[in-house]
Amino acid sequence: MLEIRELHISRGGKSVVHGVDLDVAPGEIVAMLGPNGAGKSSIVLALAGAIPRSKGHVRIGGATLDGLTPDAVRRAGLAIVPEGHQVLGSLSVLDNLRAAAMVLPANEVGPAIERVLMTFPELTPRLEHLGRSLSGGQKQMVCMAQALLARPRILVVDELSLGLAPLVVKRLADVLQSVAADGVGVLLIEQFTTLALRLAQRAVVLQRGRAAWCGPAQTLRDTPEILQASYLA
Ligand SMILES: Nc1ncnc2c1ncn2[C@@H]1O[C@H](COP(=O)(O)OP(=O)(O)OP(=O)(O)O)[C@@H](O)[C@H]1O
Ligand SMILES: [Mg+2]
Repeated sequence: MLEIRELHISRGGKSVVHGVDLDVAPGEIVAMLGPNGAGKSSIVLALAGAIPRSKGHVRIGGATLDGLTPDAVRRAGLAIVPEGHQVLGSLSVLDNLRAAAMVLPANEVGPAIERVLMTFPELTPRLEHLGRSLSGGQKQMVCMAQALLARPRILVVDELSLGLAPLVVKRLADVLQSVAADGVGVLLIEQFTTLALRLAQRAVVLQRGRAAWCGPAQTLRDTPEILQASYLA
């Protein structure tokens, strides 16, 4: 279980997230929606330990993530797929995976890479290709494979579908569902709200750094006005 309590984040001296509470249970997909600048990516980066939290607590399975470095956060079981599906362009796909596997003990690297290639068999014929030669969808597969290498208990995905072709999006959505079916809790940030609400059981709508609405994804599917209001506010 991921527990976020009273999360506050400041960026560039300005408070951008002001007291967010959120839980993600094992096997659950929670969609985090909201307009540009609402604070979604800031929450992702703060969960990962990549930017500081000015206040609040984050726990995973009861153990605190407060004050941990990004590598320690990954070892504790939380992995993120950051916005923008960036890979290292001058490294091969295999070396991109090896770089992300550095948090693992040396003897676990090979088996972990084999395991994520079973999830993304499309990457196998491209292992020696340079990161920069990949399509956007292939890059997103590498990023998801990197996140899954250390068998996270919680996976946070910032913009799964942005800029990707519909067939690739369907493929990535299927992987996300099977990851959740294996017991991983997923926090999904997604511009394409129809997709997010189809995948998720629960949703939180973020507005100017606060959780403006939280409840079953079904309610947002049935009542699109709730979401429209937050995007227009
Ligand atoms: N590197 C930064 N330095 C200072 N302020 C930042 C930085 N990145 C984002 N912000 C500010 O933090 C606030 C939240 O931005 P954030 O990127 O978290 O929003 P978001 O919900 O992810 O938006 P989007 O839907 O556009 O991705 C915004 O006011 C933004 O201008
Ligand atoms: Mg963002």
